[in-house]
Amino acid sequence: MVKNIAVIEGDGIGIEIIAEGVRVLKKIEEKFGHTFNLNYVEMGGCAIDKYGVALPDETLAACKAADAVLLGAVGGPKWDDPTAKVRPEQGLLGLRAGLECFANIRPAKVYKALAAASPLKDSIISDGFDIVVVRELTGGIYFGERGRDGDSAYDTEKYSVYEIERIARVAFNLAMGRKKIVHSVDKANVLESSRLWRETVAKVAKEYPEVELVNMLVDNAAMQLVRNPAQFDVMLTSNMFGDILSDEASQITGSIGMLASASTGAGTRGLYEPIHGSAPDIAGQNKANPIATILSVAMMLDISFGLKEEAATIDNAVNSVLEDNYRTIDIASEGSVVLGTQEMGKLIAERI
Ligand code: IPM
Ligand code: MG
Repeated sequence: MVKNIAVIEGDGIGIEIIAEGVRVLKKIEEKFGHTFNLNYVEMGGCAIDKYGVALPDETLAACKAADAVLLGAVGGPKWDDPTAKVRPEQGLLGLRAGLECFANIRPAKVYKALAAASPLKDSIISDGFDIVVVRELTGGIYFGERGRDGDSAYDTEKYSVYEIERIARVAFNLAMGRKKIVHSVDKANVLESSRLWRETVAKVAKEYPEVELVNMLVDNAAMQLVRNPAQFDVMLTSNMFGDILSDEASQITGSIGMLASASTGAGTRGLYEPIHGSAPDIAGQNKANPIATILSVAMMLDISFGLKEEAATIDNAVNSVLEDNYRTIDIASEGSVVLGTQEMGKLIAERI
């Protein structure tokens, strides 16, 4: 198989973790006889420094022309002024919108070998959990009208039936291949947009009689996630609630450095990125955990290219390294062997 992949290293640890993702990709290429053409393009703080914008037109064009986009992380203290006109995050939001990647899929599961790293009590974590947050990514308050009005400021949460239907279908389709439970998370006791969300999700649910739909208010969902995470299978939610709940879901697994994500639209093209940020405090020190990026590569092979066996090979390699007690510093525990970013990447590649 021949595929074209646009690669965005971004800022901070982005360069280091992408290098390991690419190492694994090259190993898959070699082992399974595929050709992955990589096109490195710039976005984020590094693009602001060079071109004055976070998402240069050429970058968006290259990503649109590719079969998939692999992204490290963007941002850093240098560009952190929240009042600045140009910010690295604009690159990310512009790319999601420009590629029409409306469905953000963020799996959060506990690895047996890492259960001790979870901040939750053993009694809560003992059943394990395996959750996928399905976050709407190109609508809602992130993209609604906003502005200043005298000494007030406003942001608007707005969703159309069309937008809710298409993200709901992604969640229900995913649930069909899993435990067949969808928790739709909203704030329907207060927000009109949430009432439309709930109504619309209920209609879509009729197309999936085998799937159980549970409506849950977002405050309760935040609480239930730490009280009993095993009750969840697929969590379907809006852009902002999904942003918040996916960070919470990732933390209870033990390390945000482990979690991959996929953003997809109508076709097979997708955007794949670790859910963590650019970690400027450890950038350039060979300390970052490359596993979230490596698992994002696995999601890319599976979701955009349909290469299930190749994806499973990566997942298994990651598992076997963890089972053998190899760790990066963020997930280290007593008795584990601590590896740097590159050493971890090499070891996983070797086991493919
Ligand atoms: C995420 C991030 C982004 C978001 C930021 C960096 C704009 O927090 O991908 O979750 O809010 O979507
Ligand atoms: Mg976030």
